Amino acid sequence: MFRMLLYLIFGVIFLASGLSAQTCVPDAERVDCHPDPNASTERCLARGCLHCPPDVPDQNVPTCYFPKDYGYSMVGEPVDTGNGVRVELVRTTTSTLFGGDSMNLTLEADFQSDYRLRIKITDGTPRWEVPLQIDPPTGGNENRRYEVIFTNVPVFSFKILRRPTGTTIFDSSLGGFTFSDQFLQLAFKLPSRNVYGIGENEQHSFRHSFDKFPRWVLWARDAAPSGDVNLYGVQPHYTVLEEDGNAHAVAIVNSNAQEFVMHPNPGIVYRTIGGIFDMYFFLGPTPESVAQQYSEAVGRFPLPPYWSLGFQLCRFGYDHIDNMRAVVDRMIASEIPYDVQYGDIDIMDRRLDFTIDPINFAGLGAYVQELKTQGIRFMTILDPGISIGEPNGTYPPFELGQEMEVWITKQDDTPAQGRVWPPDDVYFADFSKNSTREWWKLLIKKFHDEELEFAALWIDMNEPANFVHGDINDGGCVTTSINDPPYLPRVRGDSLYSNTLCPDHKDSMGIHYNTHSLYGWSQSEPTFIANNEAVGTRSFALSRSTFLGSGRWITHWLGDNHSNWDNLLYSIIGMLQFNLFGIPFVGPDICGHNNNATAEMCGRWMQLGAFYPFSRNHNGYGHIDQDPAAFDGAIIEISKSALNTRYRLLPYLYTLLAMHYMNGNTVARALWHEFPQDPETRGIDRQFMWGYGLVISPVIDEGATNVTAYFPDARFYDYYTGGEVAVRKGYVELDAPFTHIPLHIRGGGVLPVQASAVNTDLARRNPLGLIAALDDRGEARGNFYYDAGDSLEPIASGTYFLADIAVNQPGVLTYVVRTNGYVEMNQQVMGNITVMGGVAVTSVTVNGSPHAEFSFSPVTNQLDIYELGLVANLNFTVEWV
Ligand code: GLC
Repeated sequence: MFRMLLYLIFGVIFLASGLSAQTCVPDAERVDCHPDPNASTERCLARGCLHCPPDVPDQNVPTCYFPKDYGYSMVGEPVDTGNGVRVELVRTTTSTLFGGDSMNLTLEADFQSDYRLRIKITDGTPRWEVPLQIDPPTGGNENRRYEVIFTNVPVFSFKILRRPTGTTIFDSSLGGFTFSDQFLQLAFKLPSRNVYGIGENEQHSFRHSFDKFPRWVLWARDAAPSGDVNLYGVQPHYTVLEEDGNAHAVAIVNSNAQEFVMHPNPGIVYRTIGGIFDMYFFLGPTPESVAQQYSEAVGRFPLPPYWSLGFQLCRFGYDHIDNMRAVVDRMIASEIPYDVQYGDIDIMDRRLDFTIDPINFAGLGAYVQELKTQGIRFMTILDPGISIGEPNGTYPPFELGQEMEVWITKQDDTPAQGRVWPPDDVYFADFSKNSTREWWKLLIKKFHDEELEFAALWIDMNEPANFVHGDINDGGCVTTSINDPPYLPRVRGDSLYSNTLCPDHKDSMGIHYNTHSLYGWSQSEPTFIANNEAVGTRSFALSRSTFLGSGRWITHWLGDNHSNWDNLLYSIIGMLQFNLFGIPFVGPDICGHNNNATAEMCGRWMQLGAFYPFSRNHNGYGHIDQDPAAFDGAIIEISKSALNTRYRLLPYLYTLLAMHYMNGNTVARALWHEFPQDPETRGIDRQFMWGYGLVISPVIDEGATNVTAYFPDARFYDYYTGGEVAVRKGYVELDAPFTHIPLHIRGGGVLPVQASAVNTDLARRNPLGLIAALDDRGEARGNFYYDAGDSLEPIASGTYFLADIAVNQPGVLTYVVRTNGYVEMNQQVMGNITVMGGVAVTSVTVNGSPHAEFSFSPVTNQLDIYELGLVANLNFTVEWV
């Protein structure tokens, strides 16, 4: 009776809003049918959608949502294609959102391997497809970890199930499936709320929030990170940790303006305004294997030179070589470890690529060579906009560019014109053209050989950034459905050409409407090649804009962040995301780009920054100096101490980067990545790991002198003392006075180390060491990769060294050389071994002979063996009882 009454009341309410009670679906099942502005009941109903107030107000719940039977129907039965299955679909809905709906679709499921599935949905017409080559792996698909299931009731949808757990990892039955010319939508349910990734944006928690339907927009854009705006790169890639600890990732190969709405079901509403649906599923099942499978598909970041793992320093606005010298001098005097100095665009003559300011930076070429003799490498920057305003015959980059026809063009085939850093207008190089690649290579090589011996290159503004909107001559872009599409994802600036070119501008791949977000990606390979050829020894390139697979050629920093405490947290999140995106050598501008850094914040940031894989302090124009030596003694000390620890750990970091290139491993990892079964880890983003073995728990709050750190179910040891953490699967308050960053070694790991020095050239001459941390069984294992540091292609040519180190039985450590291709490894000396977590030791033997130089602490149970003097490329065994 009471229930009847309720129904009656609700019925009246719904009828009042013009609908019957049955049509109202719960909030968590609604897919927005009016994501564009100016929604109204009439417009909603005209789209064939339903209108209903939400169950809970103020949660951004769509009031206009798709009916459950909206979309397509299967025609006939799924067809076995030999390596997958194909289904044909026909549109069964007659209403439309934006017109141009494709009536017939083909969905192809391609079983690329046991762990990789591709789902491609096309409409049989020539549509834009991203020219990203992904070859199927070898190994067959006999034991597939997935199953694809199709349903036709109430409308077509498909599911992907994990074998053998049966978990539905993807289910498109959330509804609203649309494939029209300029609006494509797929809404799918996910198996858990542990969702990570989707870039590039500034995210405030690593694990996504599903509250209030957060919307992440992807469209390459020059914008200082702030909240939910689209940033420099496009990474339509997410990783899900399923409730049972299995993981999978999905990459959506689409380069059009797009958005991901996190749906409370949980699920995602994915919308893009062009191209096709082309999705790759990586079934793992461990988080690490997911990352490996993804980078296997799109390509892996080549091992960077050893020196690039050192601390790097930059700022926009030294403005004069004397100021740069003063900073370098104070860095050297402070003895803060430091390997790389940058020159930003202020070293250029009026900010023109491939020039040096003849007055303010006179003598820079010679200075760069001088720096090299002091163990400091120089890096510099190139922007893609080339000035067109220089007098005839004076600026070869432009003149040669004209001759070789390297520009992005307008519809009428004349070059698109914009404004960036140079005082005059610019044309934008079209890096998808072969002639442009040649032009770029010629210029880079000439500049390197004749003007400035840079050791590596930084490419910036390659979204491409434009200080005006669209074409400067046209006062914007002509109004067409390409430049102003019927549905606009919520991009910053409310237009696709806000601070960039017009969508109808052309490169050799197509129109910018489709290729815009591939601009930085298309610049990456040519820069990688040209830079390597120019430098001659191993180098790397740093790019602001990225796309899926950019890691094959370049690495990334997180852009023009802000000098505030929140940004310390966001930087950890960005770093972890890019590790999932296959770009492990990543970090933000330490101490922040915009605004002035305070001493305490910059000190703590230097401390955290010592544990970014890519560690660079960079400052924006006009802000107070923030190189660590600019501050007082306390900041110098904190920087020195943290960087000395980093430098000592460089052989471990280098090994992790080598393992990335060889096997696709991540370098910086979240705790859940290593402990996927432990639900407590899944929301942790204030701590992170390097590989298997090191946990970093930085201070990222103003005024704090301790850290609440979580320790999963394993043995962990204080890096500095060897003392074992008393708590397992719980939180510990760790002391973190200003000069201290809590670091812990995980039991079971062996970390190669080498005594620190003020730069890597010097550190590489110091004795090596090993830290072996025992697990519950008293065992530990790890690898040690080393090579010449700047040799070309060491892995492909086999000119590297690799050892397997193991404590497989109590009291016995074996060091076994697996690859001995780096000849000079015989100059390296293994000097000491630390064993954490053992029992009292009274004697040590090395290769069977007694060794007297050791100490054992009964307080921490740490064994330290010194003066080993072992040749580092020979096998050895160390025993202790
Ligand atoms: C862009 C870059 C920044 C650089 C500046 C000048 O804002 O993101 O790192 O310092 O341009 O080149």
